[in-house]
Amino acid sequence: MTRATDHHPVRLRRSVLSVPADNPRALAKIKDLAADAVIFDLEDAVTPEHKAQARDALVSHLSANRPDGEAIIRINVAESGFREADLAASVVLRPDAILLPKVESPADIQAVLDWLSDNDAPESLRLWAMIETPRGVINVPAIAEMGRTVGGRLDCFVVGLNDLRKATGVPALPGRTYLVPWLMQVLLAARGSGLDAIDAVFNDFRDAEGFGTECRQGRDMGYDGKMLIHPAQIDEANRCFGIDQAALDEAHAIIGAFARPEHAGKGVINLDGRMVERLHLDEALKLATKADIIEKRKVKP
Ligand code: COA
Ligand code: MG
Repeated sequence: MTRATDHHPVRLRRSVLSVPADNPRALAKIKDLAADAVIFDLEDAVTPEHKAQARDALVSHLSANRPDGEAIIRINVAESGFREADLAASVVLRPDAILLPKVESPADIQAVLDWLSDNDAPESLRLWAMIETPRGVINVPAIAEMGRTVGGRLDCFVVGLNDLRKATGVPALPGRTYLVPWLMQVLLAARGSGLDAIDAVFNDFRDAEGFGTECRQGRDMGYDGKMLIHPAQIDEANRCFGIDQAALDEAHAIIGAFARPEHAGKGVINLDGRMVERLHLDEALKLATKADIIEKRKVKP
C-alpha cells in the first residue's frame, strides 16, 4: 500500500551547518567540510543593514560553488520586507530547499507555495520549516499535514530552541528537561507526514562533551540530525546520527533475504530464527540508501 507520506525521497541529514551569508571566510570553508547539508542564512545571523549585501554575496557564491550535499537558503519572515527579494534570489539560485523561519500555521507555508507556483519555481524545490515559536509548536500537526500532499514541497522541520526559549521563558537546563515534550511533539508530527526532523543548535561550540550528549539525546528522540553553527560540530553529528556497521550488515541481510525467489510475495519471513516483516525491509532499504549517499560523498567524514 502506498501512503500519502511515502513520496519523500530518502536524504542524508545528519549534520546541517548554518553559515551566515555575509561571512565570506565561512562561505569559503564549506567546500572542505563534511556537512550533509548547508543552510545559507539570510535571517537572524544577518543584521537588517546587511540583508541586501548578504543576499548579493550569496548569489555570487552559490552561482559559482555548490556544496557537496544539500544547499538550503534560510529566508526572512514575511513581515521583514526582505522576503520577496529573498524568494526571487532563491528561485534563480535553485537550492535544494528554502527554509522558512518562524512558521506558525499552514497558511505560512501556503503563502510561499503560492508565490513559488506564480513564479515558475521548479517542482524539485523543497520547503523546510523552522518550528521555533509557541504557536508553531501548538500548530505543528496542522503544519505537518502540508507535507502529506504529493507535490506539496514541505520536506523537513528544524527545531529552533533559542527562539522558543526566549518566547516561553523556559531556561536552558541540562537535559533540556522542559523542552523535551515539545521536541517530541515536533518529531511525532513530522513522522505522521513522512517528514525529516532536525534537532536544534547547541550554542556553546567549544563544549564538545555537552554537544555530544545533546546529539545522542536528539538521536534517541528519533531526530535525523542536528542543526550546527560551527565546523567543529560536524564530525560528532555525523558519527552520532550516522549508520553503524552492524545495522548496515543487518539491513543487507534483510534485503538479501526478501530478494530470494522462495520469499517472493511473502509478507513475513524467517531470518536465522527471527521474524522479519516487510516493514523491516522498508527500514533496511532506507538505511542502505543513506549508506550509499555517504559512500558517494566527496568530502569524507
Ligand atoms: N560555517 C563555516 N565556517 C565557519 C563557521 C560556519 N558556521 N563558523 C566558523 N567558521 C570558520 C571561521 O570562519 C574560522 O575560519 P577563519 O579563521 O578562516 O575565518 C574557523 O571556522 C574557526 O572559527 P572560530 O574562530 O572558532 O569562530 P568565529 O569567531 O569565526 O565564529 C560564530 C563563531 C559563532 C560567529 C560562527 O561560528 C557563526 O557565525 N556560526 C553560524 C551562526 C549562524 O548561522 N546562526 C544562525 C543560526 S542559529
Ligand atoms: Mg530562529
